[in-house]
Amino acid sequence: MCYFFTNWTQDENPSLIPEYLYNYMLSLQKKVVAVTGASKGIGLAIARHFAAEGAQVALLGRKTRDLKTALRSFPRGESSSLIVRCDIRKRDELKQAIRQIKKHFGRLDIWVNNAGVGAHKPLTETTEREYDAMLDTNLRAVFYSFKELIPLFRKQKSKADSCSGHIINISSGAARIGAANLAVYAASKAALNALSESVANEVRQEGIKISVLSPASTNTNLMRNLSAQKSGRALSPSKAAVKLTVDEVAEMVVFLAKQNSNAWTSMADIRPLQTRK
Ligand SMILES: NC(=O)c1ccc[n+]([C@@H]2O[C@H](COP(=O)([O-])OP(=O)(O)OC[C@H]3O[C@@H](n4cnc5c(N)ncnc54)[C@H](OP(=O)(O)O)[C@@H]3O)[C@@H](O)[C@H]2O)c1
Repeated sequence: MCYFFTNWTQDENPSLIPEYLYNYMLSLQKKVVAVTGASKGIGLAIARHFAAEGAQVALLGRKTRDLKTALRSFPRGESSSLIVRCDIRKRDELKQAIRQIKKHFGRLDIWVNNAGVGAHKPLTETTEREYDAMLDTNLRAVFYSFKELIPLFRKQKSKADSCSGHIINISSGAARIGAANLAVYAASKAALNALSESVANEVRQEGIKISVLSPASTNTNLMRNLSAQKSGRALSPSKAAVKLTVDEVAEMVVFLAKQNSNAWTSMADIRPLQTRK
Protein backbone atom coordinates (compact mmCIF):
# COMPACT_ATOMS: atom_id res chain seq x y z
CA MET A 1 0.00 0.00 0.00
CA CYS A 2 2.45 2.60 1.15
CA TYR A 3 5.27 2.15 -1.36
CA PHE A 4 3.33 4.31 -3.80
CA PHE A 5 3.86 7.24 -1.44
CA THR A 6 7.60 6.82 -1.13
CA ASN A 7 8.45 9.11 -4.01
CA TRP A 8 6.48 12.08 -2.72
CA THR A 9 8.27 14.82 -0.86
CA GLN A 10 7.15 18.07 0.70
CA ASP A 11 8.83 19.98 -2.15
CA GLU A 12 6.50 18.62 -4.80
CA ASN A 13 3.54 20.64 -6.03
CA PRO A 14 0.40 19.19 -4.46
CA SER A 15 -1.95 21.11 -6.79
CA LEU A 16 -2.90 18.00 -8.76
CA ILE A 17 -4.26 16.12 -5.77
CA PRO A 18 -6.72 17.11 -3.02
CA GLU A 19 -5.05 18.73 0.00
CA TYR A 20 -6.43 16.18 2.47
CA LEU A 21 -4.92 13.33 0.43
CA TYR A 22 -1.62 15.15 0.07
CA ASN A 23 -1.47 15.74 3.84
CA TYR A 24 -2.37 12.10 4.46
CA MET A 25 0.39 10.91 2.15
CA LEU A 26 2.97 13.04 3.92
CA SER A 27 1.69 12.59 7.45
CA LEU A 28 4.49 10.30 8.58
CA GLN A 29 7.34 12.13 6.88
CA LYS A 30 9.94 13.16 9.48
CA LYS A 31 8.00 11.47 12.27
CA VAL A 32 10.24 9.51 14.61
CA VAL A 33 9.04 5.94 15.14
CA ALA A 34 10.52 3.24 17.40
CA VAL A 35 9.66 -0.43 16.93
CA THR A 36 10.58 -3.11 19.48
CA GLY A 37 11.43 -6.59 18.19
CA ALA A 38 12.29 -5.12 14.80
CA SER A 39 14.90 -7.69 13.78
CA LYS A 40 12.38 -10.04 12.19
CA GLY A 41 8.75 -10.99 11.70
CA ILE A 42 5.98 -8.47 12.21
CA GLY A 43 8.31 -5.90 13.84
CA LEU A 44 10.66 -5.82 10.85
CA ALA A 45 7.71 -5.38 8.48
CA ILE A 46 6.31 -2.54 10.63
CA ALA A 47 9.70 -0.78 10.66
CA ARG A 48 10.08 -1.15 6.88
CA HIS A 49 6.59 0.17 6.17
CA PHE A 50 7.19 3.23 8.38
CA ALA A 51 10.52 3.85 6.63
CA ALA A 52 8.76 3.59 3.25
CA GLU A 53 6.38 6.33 4.43
CA GLY A 54 9.34 8.65 5.03
CA ALA A 55 9.50 8.23 8.82
CA GLN A 56 12.75 8.12 10.77
CA VAL A 57 12.82 4.71 12.36
CA ALA A 58 14.61 3.24 15.38
CA LEU A 59 14.83 -0.55 15.36
CA LEU A 60 15.07 -2.17 18.78
CA GLY A 61 16.11 -5.75 19.50
CA ARG A 62 18.47 -7.86 21.55
CA LYS A 63 20.86 -8.81 18.71
CA THR A 64 22.71 -6.01 16.93
CA ARG A 65 23.81 -8.31 14.11
CA ASP A 66 20.21 -9.31 13.31
CA LEU A 67 19.13 -5.66 13.40
CA LYS A 68 21.92 -4.73 10.97
CA THR A 69 20.85 -7.52 8.60
CA ALA A 70 17.24 -6.35 8.92
CA LEU A 71 18.17 -2.78 8.05
CA ARG A 72 19.71 -3.86 4.74
CA SER A 73 16.21 -4.67 3.45
CA PHE A 74 15.03 -1.10 3.98
CA PRO A 75 13.62 0.87 1.02
CA ARG A 76 15.85 3.93 1.58
CA GLY A 77 18.85 2.08 2.95
CA GLU A 78 20.20 2.94 6.37
CA SER A 79 20.28 6.73 6.08
CA SER A 80 17.35 7.68 8.29
CA SER A 81 17.26 4.68 10.60
CA LEU A 82 18.89 3.84 13.90
CA ILE A 83 19.70 0.50 15.48
CA VAL A 84 19.28 0.28 19.24
CA ARG A 85 20.28 -2.83 21.17
CA CYS A 86 17.79 -3.27 23.98
CA ASP A 87 16.27 -6.08 26.01
CA ILE A 88 12.86 -4.58 26.68
CA ARG A 89 12.44 -6.64 29.87
CA LYS A 90 15.15 -4.53 31.51
CA ARG A 91 13.89 -1.11 32.52
CA ASP A 92 17.33 0.55 32.56
CA GLU A 93 18.00 -0.67 28.99
CA LEU A 94 14.62 0.60 27.83
CA LYS A 95 15.25 3.96 29.49
CA GLN A 96 18.67 4.20 27.85
CA ALA A 97 17.19 3.24 24.44
CA ILE A 98 14.61 6.04 24.64
CA ARG A 99 17.36 8.50 25.65
CA GLN A 100 19.48 7.38 22.67
CA ILE A 101 16.59 7.77 20.20
CA LYS A 102 15.76 11.25 21.56
CA LYS A 103 19.39 12.30 21.32
CA HIS A 104 19.74 10.98 17.76
CA PHE A 105 16.48 12.26 16.23
CA GLY A 106 15.59 15.09 18.65
CA ARG A 107 12.12 13.70 19.42
CA LEU A 108 10.00 10.56 19.49
CA ASP A 109 6.46 10.46 18.08
CA ILE A 110 5.35 6.86 17.77
CA TRP A 111 6.39 3.80 19.79
CA VAL A 112 5.34 0.30 18.69
CA ASN A 113 5.47 -2.35 21.44
CA ASN A 114 5.78 -5.32 19.12
CA ALA A 115 8.34 -7.67 20.73
CA GLY A 116 6.63 -10.72 22.20
CA VAL A 117 7.26 -14.36 23.07
CA GLY A 118 5.07 -17.45 23.45
CA ALA A 119 5.29 -21.12 24.40
CA HIS A 120 2.87 -23.64 22.93
CA LYS A 121 2.17 -26.37 25.47
CA PRO A 122 -0.50 -27.50 27.93
CA LEU A 123 -0.69 -25.42 31.09
CA THR A 124 0.45 -28.32 33.26
CA GLU A 125 3.71 -28.51 31.26
CA THR A 126 4.36 -24.75 31.20
CA THR A 127 7.28 -23.90 33.49
CA GLU A 128 7.55 -20.91 35.80
CA ARG A 129 10.49 -19.75 33.72
CA GLU A 130 8.31 -19.73 30.57
CA TYR A 131 5.55 -17.98 32.49
CA ASP A 132 8.01 -15.27 33.58
CA ALA A 133 9.42 -14.86 30.06
CA MET A 134 5.93 -14.34 28.58
CA LEU A 135 4.69 -11.99 31.31
CA ASP A 136 7.94 -10.00 31.41
CA THR A 137 8.12 -9.53 27.63
CA ASN A 138 4.45 -9.23 26.70
CA LEU A 139 3.25 -7.19 29.70
CA ARG A 140 5.91 -5.85 32.10
CA ALA A 141 7.95 -4.31 29.25
CA VAL A 142 4.85 -2.45 28.05
CA PHE A 143 4.28 -1.18 31.60
CA TYR A 144 7.90 0.09 31.59
CA SER A 145 7.38 1.77 28.22
CA PHE A 146 4.29 3.60 29.51
CA LYS A 147 6.22 4.81 32.58
CA GLU A 148 8.99 6.22 30.38
CA LEU A 149 7.02 7.50 27.39
CA ILE A 150 4.03 9.23 28.97
CA PRO A 151 6.16 11.89 30.75
CA LEU A 152 8.14 12.36 27.52
CA PHE A 153 4.99 12.84 25.42
CA ARG A 154 3.63 15.27 28.03
CA LYS A 155 6.75 17.39 27.58
CA GLN A 156 6.38 17.27 23.77
CA LYS A 157 2.83 18.64 23.82
CA SER A 158 2.42 21.62 21.53
CA LYS A 159 -0.47 23.80 20.41
CA ALA A 160 0.23 22.90 16.79
CA ASP A 161 -0.73 19.22 17.13
CA SER A 162 -3.51 17.73 19.25
CA CYS A 163 -1.57 14.46 19.49
CA SER A 164 1.76 14.60 21.32
CA GLY A 165 2.62 10.90 21.07
CA HIS A 166 1.21 7.54 20.07
CA ILE A 167 1.93 4.09 21.54
CA ILE A 168 0.75 1.13 19.48
CA ASN A 169 0.76 -2.26 21.22
CA ILE A 170 0.71 -5.54 19.30
CA SER A 171 -1.57 -7.93 21.13
CA SER A 172 -3.16 -11.11 19.77
CA GLY A 173 -6.55 -12.47 18.83
CA ALA A 174 -5.89 -15.12 21.52
CA ALA A 175 -6.39 -12.41 24.18
CA ARG A 176 -10.13 -12.27 23.62
CA ILE A 177 -11.03 -15.83 22.71
CA GLY A 178 -8.28 -17.74 24.56
CA ALA A 179 -6.26 -20.49 22.90
CA ALA A 180 -5.72 -24.07 24.03
CA ASN A 181 -2.03 -24.72 24.84
CA LEU A 182 -1.34 -20.99 24.77
CA ALA A 183 -3.00 -20.12 28.08
CA VAL A 184 -0.24 -17.97 29.58
CA TYR A 185 0.46 -16.26 26.26
CA ALA A 186 -3.26 -15.48 25.85
CA ALA A 187 -3.46 -14.27 29.47
CA SER A 188 -0.45 -11.98 29.02
CA LYS A 189 -2.06 -10.44 25.94
CA ALA A 190 -5.46 -10.10 27.67
CA ALA A 191 -3.71 -8.24 30.49
CA LEU A 192 -1.93 -6.10 27.90
CA ASN A 193 -5.32 -5.15 26.41
CA ALA A 194 -6.72 -4.18 29.82
CA LEU A 195 -3.58 -2.26 30.78
CA SER A 196 -3.58 -0.37 27.47
CA GLU A 197 -7.27 0.49 27.45
CA SER A 198 -7.09 1.70 31.07
CA VAL A 199 -3.97 3.84 30.63
CA ALA A 200 -5.33 5.17 27.32
CA ASN A 201 -8.31 6.57 29.21
CA GLU A 202 -5.98 8.14 31.78
CA VAL A 203 -3.98 10.07 29.15
CA ARG A 204 -6.24 10.65 26.13
CA GLN A 205 -7.28 14.14 27.27
CA GLU A 206 -3.61 15.10 27.26
CA GLY A 207 -3.30 14.23 23.56
CA ILE A 208 -1.58 10.89 24.04
CA LYS A 209 -2.92 7.96 22.02
CA ILE A 210 -2.57 4.34 23.06
CA SER A 211 -3.82 1.79 20.54
CA VAL A 212 -3.89 -2.01 20.52
CA LEU A 213 -3.80 -4.09 17.36
CA SER A 214 -4.63 -7.79 17.67
CA PRO A 215 -3.57 -9.86 14.67
CA ALA A 216 -4.75 -13.39 13.95
CA SER A 217 -2.05 -16.00 13.12
CA THR A 218 0.65 -14.46 10.98
CA ASN A 219 3.47 -16.16 9.10
CA THR A 220 6.54 -15.48 11.27
CA ASN A 221 9.20 -17.40 13.23
CA LEU A 222 7.05 -17.11 16.35
CA MET A 223 4.06 -18.69 14.62
CA ARG A 224 6.24 -21.41 13.03
CA ASN A 225 7.92 -22.17 16.38
CA LEU A 226 4.54 -22.40 18.09
CA SER A 227 3.30 -24.71 15.33
CA ALA A 228 6.46 -26.81 15.65
CA GLN A 229 6.01 -27.07 19.43
CA LYS A 230 2.44 -28.20 18.80
CA SER A 231 3.23 -30.81 16.13
CA GLY A 232 6.65 -31.84 17.44
CA ARG A 233 8.36 -31.00 14.14
CA ALA A 234 9.52 -27.80 12.45
CA LEU A 235 7.28 -26.42 9.74
CA SER A 236 8.60 -24.64 6.67
CA PRO A 237 6.96 -21.31 5.82
CA SER A 238 5.21 -22.91 2.84
CA LYS A 239 3.88 -25.83 4.90
CA ALA A 240 2.66 -23.71 7.81
CA ALA A 241 -1.03 -22.88 7.86
CA VAL A 242 -0.38 -19.32 6.80
CA LYS A 243 -3.08 -16.81 7.47
CA LEU A 244 -2.03 -13.15 7.59
CA THR A 245 1.22 -11.89 6.08
CA VAL A 246 3.54 -9.58 8.04
CA ASP A 247 2.90 -6.86 5.45
CA GLU A 248 -0.84 -7.01 6.02
CA VAL A 249 -0.29 -6.46 9.76
CA ALA A 250 2.27 -3.69 9.16
CA GLU A 251 -0.10 -1.84 6.80
CA MET A 252 -2.68 -1.74 9.59
CA VAL A 253 -0.16 -0.33 12.09
CA VAL A 254 0.74 2.42 9.62
CA PHE A 255 -2.96 3.09 9.06
CA LEU A 256 -3.47 3.58 12.83
CA ALA A 257 -0.47 5.92 12.96
CA LYS A 258 -1.78 7.99 10.04
CA GLN A 259 -5.20 8.63 11.53
CA ASN A 260 -6.14 12.25 11.99
CA SER A 261 -4.52 13.78 15.10
CA ASN A 262 -7.79 13.94 16.96
CA ALA A 263 -9.02 10.46 15.96
CA TRP A 264 -8.05 7.56 18.16
CA THR A 265 -8.56 3.85 17.56
CA SER A 266 -8.28 2.11 20.91
CA MET A 267 -8.61 -1.53 19.82
CA ALA A 268 -8.42 -3.11 16.39
CA ASP A 269 -8.46 -6.70 15.18
CA ILE A 270 -7.01 -7.92 11.92
CA ARG A 271 -7.98 -11.27 10.45
CA PRO A 272 -7.62 -12.91 7.05
CA LEU A 273 -10.70 -12.91 4.86
CA GLN A 274 -9.84 -16.38 3.57
CA THR A 275 -7.51 -18.93 5.17
CA ARG A 276 -4.41 -19.56 3.07
CA LYS A 277 -2.63 -22.91 3.13
N1 LIG B 1 3.01 -14.43 14.52
C1 LIG B 1 1.75 -14.50 14.90
O1 LIG B 1 0.97 -15.40 14.51
C2 LIG B 1 1.21 -13.46 15.85
C3 LIG B 1 -0.19 -13.35 16.00
C4 LIG B 1 -0.70 -12.39 16.87
C5 LIG B 1 0.16 -11.57 17.56
N2 LIG B 1 1.52 -11.70 17.40
C6 LIG B 1 2.38 -10.80 18.17
O2 LIG B 1 3.15 -10.05 17.26
C7 LIG B 1 4.39 -9.69 17.88
C8 LIG B 1 5.55 -10.07 16.97
O3 LIG B 1 5.50 -11.47 16.79
P1 LIG B 1 6.32 -12.21 15.63
O4 LIG B 1 5.46 -13.33 15.21
O5 LIG B 1 6.81 -11.25 14.62
O6 LIG B 1 7.54 -12.81 16.48
P2 LIG B 1 9.07 -13.19 16.06
O7 LIG B 1 9.15 -13.44 14.59
O8 LIG B 1 9.48 -14.26 16.99
O9 LIG B 1 9.84 -11.85 16.40
C9 LIG B 1 9.87 -11.39 17.73
C10 LIG B 1 10.78 -10.20 17.82
O10 LIG B 1 10.81 -9.77 19.19
C11 LIG B 1 12.17 -9.67 19.60
N3 LIG B 1 12.26 -9.88 21.03
C12 LIG B 1 11.86 -10.93 21.76
N4 LIG B 1 12.12 -10.74 23.05
C13 LIG B 1 12.69 -9.52 23.16
C14 LIG B 1 13.20 -8.74 24.24
N5 LIG B 1 13.16 -9.19 25.50
N6 LIG B 1 13.73 -7.52 23.98
C15 LIG B 1 13.76 -7.05 22.71
N7 LIG B 1 13.31 -7.73 21.64
C16 LIG B 1 12.79 -8.96 21.87
C17 LIG B 1 12.90 -10.71 18.76
O11 LIG B 1 14.27 -10.41 18.60
P3 LIG B 1 15.45 -11.12 19.43
O12 LIG B 1 14.93 -12.45 19.91
O13 LIG B 1 16.56 -11.19 18.47
O14 LIG B 1 15.72 -10.16 20.53
C18 LIG B 1 12.20 -10.51 17.42
O15 LIG B 1 12.74 -9.40 16.74
C19 LIG B 1 4.41 -10.38 19.23
O16 LIG B 1 4.00 -9.49 20.23
C20 LIG B 1 3.38 -11.49 19.07
O17 LIG B 1 2.82 -11.88 20.30
C21 LIG B 1 2.05 -12.62 16.56
